[in-house]
Amino acid sequence: MKFFVDTADVAEIRELAETGLLDGVTTNPSLIMKAGRPIADVIAEICHITPGPVSAEVAAIDFEGMLNEGRKLAAIARNVAVKVPLTLDGLKACRKLTDEGRMVNVTLCFTANQALLAAKAGATFISPFIGRLDDIGLDGMELIEEIRAIYDNYDFGTQLLAASIRTPNHVKLAAMAGADVATVPPAVLKSLLKHPLTDKGLELFLADWRKTGQSIV
Ligand code: E4P
Repeated sequence: MKFFVDTADVAEIRELAETGLLDGVTTNPSLIMKAGRPIADVIAEICHITPGPVSAEVAAIDFEGMLNEGRKLAAIARNVAVKVPLTLDGLKACRKLTDEGRMVNVTLCFTANQALLAAKAGATFISPFIGRLDDIGLDGMELIEEIRAIYDNYDFGTQLLAASIRTPNHVKLAAMAGADVATVPPAVLKSLLKHPLTDKGLELFLADWRKTGQSIV
């Protein structure tokens, strides 16, 4: 499973990119607002840091507007994936932008049927939102499983990008369900490596090692 980080914070992205664990980045209008900088500057900087896909979302909601904005965003760098909402105009824009050779991430997916339509529209990525479904008392992970089954039935090339991930358990379950990508907030990504027994075990090994009086180099 690939790891994307869900943030427009350039410092966090740089730090994670240095680990070699980062396969791409997703942003959305709320994350751009938090960054407090012009979208073109932020996306250009992120695309320079990581060679992987960097999702940049259109703000228009009509077909022509999405095309114009999508082309402008895609012109920032070769690794921009244009993010469009899961609406009829969004899917039309997805088909057109895909036909023009651009990567497209269809976002705000909440049903398996929506994901089926996005795949038929040629989406590079489909973004089902796990956490927001959990928030309203539904099971976001069930959606990931359903989409996986449908995409496998028909050999769709669209990558299943588990989004709106809030916990390490979401990451594990998305991986078990066969998501191609998980986009994860920086704090959740960092928390994946933590376990108290790892820290305690390391402490013990180091204490015993010191007692041997040896050095390896
Ligand atoms: C996905 O691309 C979205 O940016 C993101 O995962 C939404 O997450 P949220 O529901 O935590 O805002």
